[in-house]
Amino acid sequence: MTTDLEIKEINNNKGSTEKARLEYNGTVVELPVVEGTEQEKAVDISNLRADTGLITLDNGYMNTGSCQSDITFIDGEKGILRYRGIDIEALAERSTFVEVCYLLIYGELPTKEQMDDFSEGLTRHSLLHEDMIHFFAGYPSTAHPMAILSSMTCSLAAYYNDASSSPTEAQINLDVIRILSKLRTIASFSYKKSIGQPLIYPNNKLTYCANIMNMMFAVPSEEYYIDDEIVKVMNQLLILHADHEQNCSTSTVRMVQSSGASIYACMSAGISALWGPLHGGANQAVLEMLQQIHDSGENYKSFLTKVKDKKSSIKLMGFGHRVYKNFDPRAKILRKACDRVLDKLGISDPLLEIAKGLEEEALKDPYFVERKLYPNVDFYSGIIYSALGIPVNMFTVMFALGRLPGWLAHWKEQNEFDKKKICRPRQVYTGYNERLYVPLRDRN
Ligand code: ACO
Repeated sequence: MTTDLEIKEINNNKGSTEKARLEYNGTVVELPVVEGTEQEKAVDISNLRADTGLITLDNGYMNTGSCQSDITFIDGEKGILRYRGIDIEALAERSTFVEVCYLLIYGELPTKEQMDDFSEGLTRHSLLHEDMIHFFAGYPSTAHPMAILSSMTCSLAAYYNDASSSPTEAQINLDVIRILSKLRTIASFSYKKSIGQPLIYPNNKLTYCANIMNMMFAVPSEEYYIDDEIVKVMNQLLILHADHEQNCSTSTVRMVQSSGASIYACMSAGISALWGPLHGGANQAVLEMLQQIHDSGENYKSFLTKVKDKKSSIKLMGFGHRVYKNFDPRAKILRKACDRVLDKLGISDPLLEIAKGLEEEALKDPYFVERKLYPNVDFYSGIIYSALGIPVNMFTVMFALGRLPGWLAHWKEQNEFDKKKICRPRQVYTGYNERLYVPLRDRN
């Protein structure tokens, strides 16, 4: 079917006067062009249906801006990622995860006093209600820790039923602290449960990341020593995952928030969305892929041939990104961190060699070059997690812990938006036209 819908022109006047003109069935509508602080432009179609009867259709939201946001800037073509204007490399190198949490959620780097208060809050709120400890006994030992994390996070709403749909600022600040602090405890306990070891409670003397390592790896019967270099790389991993603007899980958090659901339910929804192998589950899928290549003794060049075969449905996991059409800056940082950690721990991992070989081959292969497919953050993160002793099924949990401040920042931004609306997309219906109900006895 042909259409006479066409964007006629974008005039180049800067600012709010800029309009896109759209002609449909002889009617011309002018659509405001919105410009961000980094000169990205969007056509505002909020009145399109009212003016023309049309809606837009955008499979996978490839061209849809769902909101205006001050939190994270990505330039996928240039490989830039900034949180609140600060480059990811500077943060990964010089900051800590706790400081980045504050930056993302509250918009500025904290003063010394703010940082002390925030850290103190995280330390004080790390324990779970003792009744919740019994929940862990109810899960089978084979349960995926993401299932436990998601359901336990939602369960927090049952304990903190002061979580209302219009919370005060003080209430939000407390919920933020509870979520950041307690979810690492839930995550670590879910791991202990899966391996049948006693739970290790949080230790107030330890920093945020060291506490995670301690809760996961210490046992009551002996001292557990945490190397500073390991704590640094854990900080880096969490910082690199902390936000990535309107990705699938963050959009989910914003969508659930728009209905006024509890902040704990919103975080739980984000965790569930992250679980999928095309999103946060990719780091697990990368390691499984590398392991499979290793175990089968397959030449990685022949593996790439299968990846390129459209009939095979095999993907090079950890490659490609909806936004980055250039190197993912996070992958660059992790590639270096990977070498550093393995060196420090004296580990020689054959999977790292396979990963490097795959990367080298793919980056010169026309299939990947033409499609602008580069390693993403997940390509190397799994190898580092493995080196730290974190099992494969906990990788996505670590990603979720890292992504929490991003989800919280977006939740807060949307909650504070004065023109907020429930998120409710439309559709183009393609099913049956009206037809009669046939009683069961008359159906054949
Ligand atoms: N291996 C092989 N081919 C790929 C890959 C890959 N990893 N990624 C994309 N392609 C191909 C597609 O088959 C498609 O080819 P075609 O044009 O011949 O049909 C083309 O590249 C474009 O790919 P799309 O799937 O349309 O790109 P999209 O932006 O929708 O998907 C995604 C991005 C989901 C990340 C995709 O690249 C992918 O599946 N990668 C592997 C999984 C992965 O690593 N996910 C982690 C993402 S990062 C994160 O969530 C933190």
